Amino acid sequence: MDPRFFAKRAAALSDSSLKEVLETHPGIISFAGGLPDEQAFPIEQIQEVARRIATSPRAWQYLPTEGDPALREAVAEHVASFGIQAGVDNILITQGSQQALDLISMAFIDPGDKVLLEAPGYLGAIGAVQNYEAEIVDIPVGEEGVDPDRLAQAPQGAKFFYTVSTFHNPTGCSIPVDKRRELLEVAAAKNFLIVEDGAYRELCFDGDAQPPIKSFDTDERVIYLGSFSKSLVPGVRVGWVVAAKEIIKRLALLKQAVDLASNTLGQLFVLHWLREYGLRPPVELYKEKRDRALAALEKEMPPDVAWNRPQGGFFLWIRLPALLDATAMLSRARQEGVTYVPGAAFRGAPSSLRFSFSQVQPEEIAPGVERLARVITKELERARKRTSKSPVA
Ligand SMILES: Cc1ncc(COP(=O)(O)O)c(C=O)c1O
Repeated sequence: MDPRFFAKRAAALSDSSLKEVLETHPGIISFAGGLPDEQAFPIEQIQEVARRIATSPRAWQYLPTEGDPALREAVAEHVASFGIQAGVDNILITQGSQQALDLISMAFIDPGDKVLLEAPGYLGAIGAVQNYEAEIVDIPVGEEGVDPDRLAQAPQGAKFFYTVSTFHNPTGCSIPVDKRRELLEVAAAKNFLIVEDGAYRELCFDGDAQPPIKSFDTDERVIYLGSFSKSLVPGVRVGWVVAAKEIIKRLALLKQAVDLASNTLGQLFVLHWLREYGLRPPVELYKEKRDRALAALEKEMPPDVAWNRPQGGFFLWIRLPALLDATAMLSRARQEGVTYVPGAAFRGAPSSLRFSFSQVQPEEIAPGVERLARVITKELERARKRTSKSPVA
């Protein structure tokens, strides 16, 4: 086909090199995949709720574009449990929070507009804003997420700052509460919106998650995204947006031309699930995996390798000595029977990597970390030899 038929934004797309990284192979222990663990899906109860709703003709009818009214109410109640005050008119149900990212980009980005993204950051957000030809401005993520002082250095005129404030993808970090307030102050002072993505917040292992930035928002500056993908099941494709009524109205108008409405079966399933069982995120399963990962890292990793201790979510972030390149190291890791996603894939430092503990089986974690530690140790020896041989300038 003649490639000139494609719009520039479609022609510029390349097949994600991540596809290969995320492939699983027998004998290779993968810390790459970031999907939920299917063992966490309560299949019997799911079947029972699905069977019950499927007998109603309403389950096969269109719903309003904004979402099922009772589900919107249930979401309002849910977000109130972590400090976000919202009425039904402040809520839009979407096909997963990924659709929310698309609609928000559609609503706010004209080609060339500046958008502030975390680096390293969530690939789905990078893709969403790129589709609308945003100019991406990277804001570095440290151990405590984005630093308000760094955000304050962002260029003028940005439309919004996007943050996965709690149990970040890809690093696992969470922004401390005082910094959340400061980020909001910076956004007000520089006059841009904040898009806060809470995709992982319900998966909290230790104590309570930090209050969302949205809970401090008194001037409708924050758009909050949530999802049932990690706390229940992703196959229902149900997420939501909490925002000012005016924003919800515009997003719904745009959504009409995208898909008329989110899928009915998924919405009714979530509603009935919440009524029957309440939201019971599979926290214990992921906490156990996190704990096994931390214990193995502590035991196996050579000195000079650092990592964080996420309080929830699916990921932790490993920082290798700067002389190592996690992308170059990947083929050797595969030979040793272990894999991960290099940090550079998320616009992070070349010497960093994302270690996902969500999909790996618990008993594979310790042997996987042992393999990873072996690769890193060998690569370090090689790199140190190389640098000690290079002539002194
Ligand atoms: C940070 C973040 N936001 C949003 C999503 C999208 O999830 P969903 O569309 O299933 O709600 C994901 C999926 O992995 C994610 O990691």
